[in-house]
Amino acid sequence: MSDWRRTHTCGELRAEQIGQEVRLCGWVARRRDHKNVYFVDLRDRYGLTQVVFEDQVRGEARLGPEDCISVTGQVVARAEANPELATGEVEVLASRLEVLTRSELPPFEIIEDLDTDIELRLRHRYLDLRRPEMQRHLAHRSRFIADMRQAFLSRGFLDVETPILTKATPEGARDYLVPSRVHPGKCYALPQSPQIFKQLLMVGGCDRYFQVARCFRDEDLRADRQPEFTQLDMEMAFVEEEDVWQVWEEVLVDTFSDAMGIELEVPFPRLTWAEAMSRYGTDKPDTRFGMELVDLAQWVPTCDFQVFQKTLEGGGAVMGLSLAGGGEKVSRGQMKKLEELARSLGAKGLAWWKPGASGGAAGPLARFVEGDVGSDLCTRMGAGSDDLLLFCADRQEVVWRVLGELRLQLGREHALAEEGRWDFLWVTRFPMFEWDEEQQRWASSHHPFTAPADWELQGEPAAMESRAYDLVLNGWELGSGSIRIHRPDTQEKVFELLGIGPDERRRKFGFLLSALAYGAPPHGGFALGLDRIVALSLGMDSIRDVVAFPKTRGVRDRV
Ligand code: AMO
Ligand code: AMP
Repeated sequence: MSDWRRTHTCGELRAEQIGQEVRLCGWVARRRDHKNVYFVDLRDRYGLTQVVFEDQVRGEARLGPEDCISVTGQVVARAEANPELATGEVEVLASRLEVLTRSELPPFEIIEDLDTDIELRLRHRYLDLRRPEMQRHLAHRSRFIADMRQAFLSRGFLDVETPILTKATPEGARDYLVPSRVHPGKCYALPQSPQIFKQLLMVGGCDRYFQVARCFRDEDLRADRQPEFTQLDMEMAFVEEEDVWQVWEEVLVDTFSDAMGIELEVPFPRLTWAEAMSRYGTDKPDTRFGMELVDLAQWVPTCDFQVFQKTLEGGGAVMGLSLAGGGEKVSRGQMKKLEELARSLGAKGLAWWKPGASGGAAGPLARFVEGDVGSDLCTRMGAGSDDLLLFCADRQEVVWRVLGELRLQLGREHALAEEGRWDFLWVTRFPMFEWDEEQQRWASSHHPFTAPADWELQGEPAAMESRAYDLVLNGWELGSGSIRIHRPDTQEKVFELLGIGPDERRRKFGFLLSALAYGAPPHGGFALGLDRIVALSLGMDSIRDVVAFPKTRGVRDRV
């Protein structure tokens, strides 16, 4: 008789089963050898159960860590219950042991709080996955995605699969190529997203589409980036921005409530791109804390600091931010580090001022801000004498980048973001184009199918607004989308502005362009980075923690 088939899992037994004959299968976690008995914690993905081998069985029971075994025996009450363990009231008194497969000595312990190099964990991911933490992450991911699917299905969305072997896609990263056997010398590209296909589905009358879509982008690995990742991709016809946002708010409310018991507040705040940049210096602000940037263009002429005045005269910007209580909290050494960070981000320097520092005011700006000039500055920045004020003068993009990052760094160092907050935010009205220095031409800030705020595209490209939006959570970009161009004339104009000639248009996007000629409905959509939201919802700071088999640092697969 085979002993492979279990009657219960290792997380299942309770006092009600006392007296029953059961069979458990799993891996040997901890072993304790006492005088007359041998204890083994048996583990599977459901939990741990203590197994007791008495003398008659213990001879066979010389077990090593991670041996895969089957144990038959009787459920008995523990002399002393273990309240930490769901099965802690009982143990299994083994009458029979079968070693199903022996394990070599594992390179790391299979425990909850493992402090081991990630590369080693990934090399033996099959062992890493046995850890309760990884099991929880995978179960959470599975539940989260299932709930999200259900939320879309219940709102009338169709789940449609789109091709993996396809033509180049327009998301701006490099493509992965797959050689074709039928057309020697030619390649398919793996999709960077299903963008073109979902627009074709709208022209095809599908009206409400969604898909859990695998996407491929040949780009460098980061904590929030894998070359192969998953989107919850969707598209809708006959809609405006608010309709798309509302569906997502409902879907996220349902998913967070079902999968995590968290009730999100909706609608999420909306902030235009221009406002996000001027207040936070970034298009994905962490709004869990304030410390907003302040524009000092009005104040600079009253102050004799040449660097600031020259910057303004040259068309640049001067902005500042203040850290409450920073006068005391931030030492000279830390100031040096902040200045190094600023320089590494392209700043020429970092002027600062502590209005109330002991022995008179401190900082390179101190002698320029005496009297009214200084009190006016404090008023504008909402700062008091205990605070630390930081300033950057440069081209506007540099100022945003430097102060935006300093704000985040200070936020982390001084734990300004309240724990347990879910600050979702729609950032809207992105610029239509950005200037590509390298190629010396305009590029789409989202992708070339994004609708302009003005269908006629009048004015300077630099000033044109688009109907693109991002969803941001606690400072992470979770997803992007837009209202699309359904009018062939507007699409042509956008291609012209982007310097994409007729040949290239036909070659790259011909399918979509001809589809637009056949009564395309107005449409828009959005794609959420699933790996990112699953990681964030678990409080993880790398998406690697929620992907079963992620790529390693060298973008290598271990399997
Ligand atoms: P976008 O390129 O902004 O938009 O991608 C949408 C979201 O996908 C996630 N994401 C990634 N996650 C992990 N690793 C990566 N390498 C990676 N790249 C992107 C992010 C991102 O916000 N077709 C458009 C969407 C649309 O317009 O509907 C698109 O793909 O969370
Ligand atoms: P300097 O006059 O160049 O010696 O600079 C005086 C102070 O201003 C130093 O603390 C510099 O770090 C700072 N500083 C110089 N350039 C800038 C700038 N563009 N923006 C902000 N601070 C600056």
